[in-house]
Amino acid sequence: MTVPGPDDLEDIQGLIYSAWLDHPHAGFLFARLGDDPAAARGWLDTVRRLVTPAVRHRRRLHGRLQVALSPTGLAALGVPGDVIAMMAPEATAGMAARRRVLADTPADAWELGGPGDRLDALVMVYTRDAETLAGELAAQRHALVAAGAQVHADELGSPIGQREHFGFADGLSQPFIAGVHPRPRPGEDPIPVGEIVLGYPNAYGRLPMTPIWGDFDLGRNGSYLVFRKLAQDVAGLWRWVADHARRLAAGDPAMADYLTELLAAKLIGRWPSGAPLTLAPDRDDRSLAAPERRNCFGYLEHDRDGLRCPISAHIRRANPRDARGGSADDSQTVVGRHAVLLARLGAALTALRAGFEFIQQTWLANPGFLGLHCEPDPLLGGAAGQGHFTIPADPIRLRLTGVPTVVTNRGGGYFFLPSLSALARIAAGP
Ligand code: HEM
Repeated sequence: MTVPGPDDLEDIQGLIYSAWLDHPHAGFLFARLGDDPAAARGWLDTVRRLVTPAVRHRRRLHGRLQVALSPTGLAALGVPGDVIAMMAPEATAGMAARRRVLADTPADAWELGGPGDRLDALVMVYTRDAETLAGELAAQRHALVAAGAQVHADELGSPIGQREHFGFADGLSQPFIAGVHPRPRPGEDPIPVGEIVLGYPNAYGRLPMTPIWGDFDLGRNGSYLVFRKLAQDVAGLWRWVADHARRLAAGDPAMADYLTELLAAKLIGRWPSGAPLTLAPDRDDRSLAAPERRNCFGYLEHDRDGLRCPISAHIRRANPRDARGGSADDSQTVVGRHAVLLARLGAALTALRAGFEFIQQTWLANPGFLGLHCEPDPLLGGAAGQGHFTIPADPIRLRLTGVPTVVTNRGGGYFFLPSLSALARIAAGP
């Protein structure tokens, strides 16, 4: 079977199906498991029964819970080393070891996952209100500690609804995975399920590498998961755009306000409502942020030269759609090979090297992206005041200099999000 069937949806963790935006309170527990594998397996055997699957009918009413394990976590649970060695090499190396590829801050400044900070297990909880979240996190922490684990302080997502901290609508564009999602939303291109879920053919028609334990495929129906802890300098971003806007507005305060919002939208590629600049070049238009319209555009088709959405805008770099080079179809094929699913707070589910690392290295952090010069992603390029941001315009393009560092990475880790049956297999032990 090339797409997941009904039984597979019982097996696949729900985070692959949804980022749970309808559960706006999210909390994350990072744990280093204890030295007793049997105790750690006892913990896993209890928590695995609470994991939310992709199918609807088995979801708990009061919240969602997902469990991810890192290669060190699998070792602490007693999975043999030769099985773990079959995982993606980036995962076994760990995020800190990959920080050069990711253009990250030095790992010893990390608050999560830096040297000596082994992150074995990640419990993710999503609820509709803060009280339920606090109760669930306390219970999960208690269970981990009772099994001998050391647990980090709660990492809490602020209840941001559908806006990220800079104030822009988030969670609008996700790849459509055939067999997992019932039907594509308008403008969403299907990507081969094997780009996100192990055990199915990827964009090259191949089955990705998977860890096999005896006769059990630990990888099937699982996915790699990237957790990034990113600090956003909200005042810094808005101060920088407002300074440029004031200068350009030459003493007209209403124009300065308009240009402040326009310049920030140019950095992102969408207005705060989520309306794409490619369709709404001059002002925000909520109607274009509606689900049936917000992804119905291509750059080649509407905006080849970036006069509406700059080539360097965050969303155009992170997903060049039809404008990566070559024909529109060739470009979409290549883009489909580098898909990631974005969950809030930096969790992405993906083939690590082809997905997250590729986007970060080749599209976001690359100062020479698609012929640009000295111009990394304005949010994530880590240019530290050295980069600039070009806004193509007719007749004269605008170049904003001194792009400040507004997003700083504070650590994170590479994990595996096993299927429910793989969690049961790991909990059963050797
Ligand atoms: C604090 C850091 C970040 C902020 C504030 C941010 C903000 C945004 C916003 C506002 C959107 C548009 C809404 C949407 O399409 O859902 C977006 C889209 C996107 N972002 Fe980010 N993002 C951040 C980090 C990242 C990272 C680390 C990656 C991957 C390495 C990434 C990849 C993407 C992708 C693939 C899209 C969808 C583009 C599309 O399909 O049009 N972002 N981001």
